[in-house]
Amino acid sequence: MGDTRTDIESLLVENRRFPPPPGFAATAQVKSEEEAERLRTSADADPERFWREQAAALKWSKPFTQVLDTGNHPFVRWFADGELNLTESCLDRHLSTWRRNKAALIWEGEPGDSRVLTYHELHREVCRVANALLELGVHTGDRVVIYMPMIPELVMSLLACARIGATHSVIFGGFSAEAIRDRVTDAGATFIITADGGWRRGKVIPLKQNVDEALVHCPDVRKVLCVRRIGQEGAPVTMKAGRDLWWSDVVPWQSPCLKAVALPAEHPLFILYTSGTTGKPKGVVHSTGGYGVQVAYTTKVVFDLKDEDTYFCTADVGWVTGHSYLVYGPLMNGATSVMYEGAPETPQRDRLWNLIDRWGVTIFYTAPTAIRAFMRWGNEWPEKHSLSTLRLLGTVGEPINPAAWMWYREVIGKSRCPIVDTWWQTETGGIMVAPLPGATAAKPGSCTKPLPGFSVEVVQRDGKPAAANEGGYLVITKPWPGQLRTVWGDPDRYVKNYFSEIQIDGRPVYFTGDGARRDPEGYLWVMGRVDDVLNVAGHRIGTAEVESALVSHPDVAEAAVVGRPDELKGQAIVAFVTLRGGKEGTPEQAKALLFHVVKEIGAIARPEEIRFTDSLPKTRSGKIMRRLLREIAASGQVTGDVTTLEDFSVLQRLSATPGDE
Ligand code: WTA
Repeated sequence: MGDTRTDIESLLVENRRFPPPPGFAATAQVKSEEEAERLRTSADADPERFWREQAAALKWSKPFTQVLDTGNHPFVRWFADGELNLTESCLDRHLSTWRRNKAALIWEGEPGDSRVLTYHELHREVCRVANALLELGVHTGDRVVIYMPMIPELVMSLLACARIGATHSVIFGGFSAEAIRDRVTDAGATFIITADGGWRRGKVIPLKQNVDEALVHCPDVRKVLCVRRIGQEGAPVTMKAGRDLWWSDVVPWQSPCLKAVALPAEHPLFILYTSGTTGKPKGVVHSTGGYGVQVAYTTKVVFDLKDEDTYFCTADVGWVTGHSYLVYGPLMNGATSVMYEGAPETPQRDRLWNLIDRWGVTIFYTAPTAIRAFMRWGNEWPEKHSLSTLRLLGTVGEPINPAAWMWYREVIGKSRCPIVDTWWQTETGGIMVAPLPGATAAKPGSCTKPLPGFSVEVVQRDGKPAAANEGGYLVITKPWPGQLRTVWGDPDRYVKNYFSEIQIDGRPVYFTGDGARRDPEGYLWVMGRVDDVLNVAGHRIGTAEVESALVSHPDVAEAAVVGRPDELKGQAIVAFVTLRGGKEGTPEQAKALLFHVVKEIGAIARPEEIRFTDSLPKTRSGKIMRRLLREIAASGQVTGDVTTLEDFSVLQRLSATPGDE
């Protein structure tokens, strides 16, 4: 009964529209839906002209003559004969303006320490780090792995790499030593920047220790630069002579000046590993020029960024959102970006609201999973604070349920702030679908329409357009500047993964892996992944990755991993496991397997539940029937068609298995 009511309520909310508040529209970058529609139509008619105009926002050392080169589709090149260094757009350009002494970064550590860096100061620090990298033998084109807490040195490290043309690859601090080893090896990285540890819920994450463990198997890494964030007592660290260096021994003595290297626009700015449908994460490669252009443009129009804004993105720089909308996008726009190191409930559940009031945050960008946690913690926490400086809210990472959208609007935005629900992916580099906050009427749960310049469609399996409200596959039909250029070291996988599923008129188009529908007004409703990728608390996790971690345990014969709907995290991981040699599935055994997954991948991939079974449901051709497992994980029973199932008795035994933890 209760559930039915919630469904009806959410249906009612879903059909509500929230036009931009009149005062907001008056000063917005894009002021009306008519203006937005004009921009869309004109960008559509001549995308190259549109992107050439957007590219003017960046500082180029050598102007480009060609906007887009599709000669080798699906491998594309943007602005290919132009040269630039993105750090000049992020830093140098502001130094000759009044922004020189404007705060570029406002940082707050979990224990309450803070640091504010102006553009001038950040520039000097970045040059020092870049000089240190050069002195330690890092060259243009080398890969540098960054495994750090959310501290200013992280931002400096990204930009220092970009300054000398080293390709950075950030690994999220929640990944384990094994995951670091795999990524360092795949990227062929020779240099690592890390810290002794980072704060999270009052505890220390032992980052350097994880790096040390990983590097036992990575002989090619020559140097490790380590920031002292915690101190020897809280995070004991062993420094390997000849390989490891303290940041404080190397960086402060460097010159604060360094001319940026001019790089071809297609030079790889970074590699970011993300989960796909196989056991091995993909190294998504992003360019310098195209990525920069898309991120600068979308930051400005989606967040309606003004010079007076104080902008706060809660994403970790270990994910693409942190790259694009905490570091590069805000800095290219000369904005003030707020960065917070720790957990939102430390020391209390109002940490973020407290932070917003203290720094006067005007734009706040977070994830639906966080919003659902805030809702659950109760209104008393935000209500302790005025939140009166906020003027715009954003979300990213997964579909937002209408109830959470309404709560965000009313309790955080005081029904005054537009919400931008932004759809994009690691592979798209930047936002593709989102409202223009001064123009687009929002509908709770919809990311609304593609931004001007992007061609995002919903099609059927055969590439024909889906009818209004008909579910289909979300595809991108034209190249875009922030498009991933390849999968690092595996161009075939790039083609196979993204350009082999769906064709329109015989031409392969980019398939996002998401299912969606478009309503009669052209609004997009993303329904989630249709491939074997889970979205757990906004983090992408491949079922195959967790499965391969499980089967690497000596006791496991076979494993199948599926997602189960979860109120807080969106999806929770459920693993069905068959043990070797008739071993018994005890709670201790389940614990050992959970520990093993955490060790192999990291805590973010820890299954919520392990269910032991003596066999898995398979088709006669031997394929695991995941659909059945999903149903069993969600509701304990199976309702759909099971005619292809090989052994019916499996089902009965599976449904009867109690959840072990
Ligand atoms: C999902 C994060 C609905 C989607 C930037 C996509 C969303 C995947 C939204 C990419 C949104 C992201 N509404 N779903 N606003 N934003 N997604 O690579 O399934 O970590 O394919 O990039 O998250 O996740 P990724």
